[in-house]
Amino acid sequence: MTELNTRSSFAVQPERVLGQDQSSQHRVCYRSNPLVVRDSTRIYHDKHPLSVTQLSANLIRVCLGEPLIASVAVLPATIPDHPTDLPNRIEWSWLPDDQWQIAVHRHGQGLATSRGLYADSADGLYLYLALPDAWPVYGLGEKTGELNKQGKKWTFWNSDVFLPHSDATDELYQSIPFMTVSTDQGWMGIFLDNPGRSRFDLSLTDEVCISVDGGALDLYVFTGETIGELIDLYTQLTGRPFLPPKWALGYQQSRHSYESGQEVRNIVEGFRRHDLPLDALYLDILCMDGYRVFSLDPKAFAQTPELVDDLLAEGVRVIPIVDPGVKRDPHYRVYQQGMSADYFVQSAQGDPWQGRVWPGESVWPDFFQPRVQAWWQDLHRYYTDMGIQGFWNDMNEPAVFNDRMTLDADALHHIDGSAVAHESVHNAYGLLMCESTASAIVAQCAQRPFVLTRAGYAGIQRSAAVWTGDNRSSWEHLRMSVPMLLNMGLSGVAFTGADIGGFMDDSRPELFTRWMQLGCFYPLMRNHCAIGQARQEPWCFAEPWTARVRQAMHRRYKLLPYLYQLFRDAHETGLPILRPMFWLEEQVEQTENMSDQFMFGDALLIAPILVAGGVARSVWLPKGLWHSLAEDRSVLGGQFVLAQTGLEDIPIYLKAGAILPLAPYRHSTARAQKELRILIVDGAEHGRMLFRDDDGLTVNPAENRYARLSIGYHKSPAQVECHLSLDRSYYKPEWQLITLGVPQAWKGRPVLLNGEPINGRSKVDGLRCRLQYISPSAWL
Ligand code: GLC
Repeated sequence: MTELNTRSSFAVQPERVLGQDQSSQHRVCYRSNPLVVRDSTRIYHDKHPLSVTQLSANLIRVCLGEPLIASVAVLPATIPDHPTDLPNRIEWSWLPDDQWQIAVHRHGQGLATSRGLYADSADGLYLYLALPDAWPVYGLGEKTGELNKQGKKWTFWNSDVFLPHSDATDELYQSIPFMTVSTDQGWMGIFLDNPGRSRFDLSLTDEVCISVDGGALDLYVFTGETIGELIDLYTQLTGRPFLPPKWALGYQQSRHSYESGQEVRNIVEGFRRHDLPLDALYLDILCMDGYRVFSLDPKAFAQTPELVDDLLAEGVRVIPIVDPGVKRDPHYRVYQQGMSADYFVQSAQGDPWQGRVWPGESVWPDFFQPRVQAWWQDLHRYYTDMGIQGFWNDMNEPAVFNDRMTLDADALHHIDGSAVAHESVHNAYGLLMCESTASAIVAQCAQRPFVLTRAGYAGIQRSAAVWTGDNRSSWEHLRMSVPMLLNMGLSGVAFTGADIGGFMDDSRPELFTRWMQLGCFYPLMRNHCAIGQARQEPWCFAEPWTARVRQAMHRRYKLLPYLYQLFRDAHETGLPILRPMFWLEEQVEQTENMSDQFMFGDALLIAPILVAGGVARSVWLPKGLWHSLAEDRSVLGGQFVLAQTGLEDIPIYLKAGAILPLAPYRHSTARAQKELRILIVDGAEHGRMLFRDDDGLTVNPAENRYARLSIGYHKSPAQVECHLSLDRSYYKPEWQLITLGVPQAWKGRPVLLNGEPINGRSKVDGLRCRLQYISPSAWL
């Protein structure tokens, strides 16, 4: 933390505003005729050749200039070869003079028209596209502010921002230059694939300027009927979110830093003593020997292999931090190996580039080289041989304690035989590090990987979960986490969370409790706190707070089958787990910028309390019927309702007729889940659901296959018919009992299971199945 001042005094660097003055830009003119080369149409230009390629019916690539390196985001094999006809087919054209335009047609209407390409005297390129201010914009990855990103200029440059993140903060740790636009003709997506510094300037009137400081303006333009279609296409292009191991969906505890193996044991014991669940515990930088990566403090962490074993037996995984900075110490094996094989990023003079970070003077692996990735992967044996199965990649922007907060612009990476300046590929560094880490777990543990990262670029969803970095224990940061995580999900990154309780500053009981009540719905549920701050393990605020916190944590575990199902959907289609309110009903003005409530999947509406002293709030309920969890009654949607709430809980609504797979509480996912609960929410005549379950660990879930449970019901005035079928031929689930939880309102009406009255002897595929009339709050 001593670096605080140095790091915080460089929030604005002069080069970040370079080229923003339009008077320094000149129009790029194209004078030759278009040439059709296979699927691509090209126009020659000595500096900025232009090519437009139709990749599929609703996806085109527009590339201005030549990309410097092969894309780290786009998976070429996944791009469909031949266009097919679709109603939202994307079409493009240019005018026969020296202008050109992309015209995206849906129902005969143009969506985006360019007013041309501009260049500056350096290597900057600027593309201006008409974009009405009234069209809301979502996505852009990890950004501060509200849900709708219109009206501001956004820069993509991975940065370790220790200053309090506020609305004025632009660059953060992740760069995902992907925006989705709700036009009046359906949805349009634009992904800019350039790992150097880039910008989407949405502060212009009725226009967006997309710019890069160097390299190509390599754009992918999509159209879709819904935003879900865009995310599906985008994650076909850049890869689907990885399917995490089940344990990673449990509660995770962290602190900078637990200082000894004994302290770690005491913390785990604290969870058990307070009847709180725990699946993972992090070792922050103090676990290392002088901050040397792949080492452990020889005294305080001497017994780590035993610790890992004992905790694993308790159902708790140990996750050590692995930073990329390697200490310059001639007696340290990682440094020695890297030096003798030339594995480190070089300075312009050809020596290893040096800078200061936690270990003092350090050097950085050049993850752009496959041989360096292989070496780094192998170094993980140090930990995986102890039984460690998950890693935390931090400081991988990469962060350096210098004026620039990162490597020099002219530091060199060796990529496919060429030396490439760091500034051209900066944003890709963290992603490549995570890929190396994830492949280490797969290779050495033969398990699904879990990597938590701070930095990333488009495509990071393939290999790591993301947390939003050094937030604060403040109501502002609690509030900010909602639109930030929603937009991450709309940018293809489903597995995200903010440090629950806040990293810097001391958390207070009410703030902490409200954060846990929200955080049990974060896809990643992790509590983390900075060195020197008040303790914030979940029992630290005493009663009555601990009981409230416990309720939220237990709820998380009851929801795990539903959450796992959402993760599987994300893995197969890219769909986010947290969904903005407009997801359910587009074209509703109220929800366009709704940043304080969200959907957890399609069945649960979460309205967190985000202000101190809040005991009531307005909640927007989309059209249809909703079941208020606290009041145990149906409420009509299509309106704002006033939800009164004590400190015990936050307003939660279940969609009428939804069917949710749930579980009884257990204190770790390692404990067998003996019962599967199927909750049917009142308020509909019929419903259907398919639930798939597997061991939650096997690397390739397609090979592992799964158990399939399908359920449907139909309610008539005389009876309710439920149909359940279970296929366990490929995987035998842990659960030996299925409990069907049906609304109290069904009492007095016979309930048939697969045509027979349900009773104590009912079975489905050999498994006992029973019925309970319950209120949803009994199971949540
Ligand atoms: C960075 C991380 C933080 C971590 C600290 C020490 O500030 O963002 O989470 O605790 O470094 O490793």
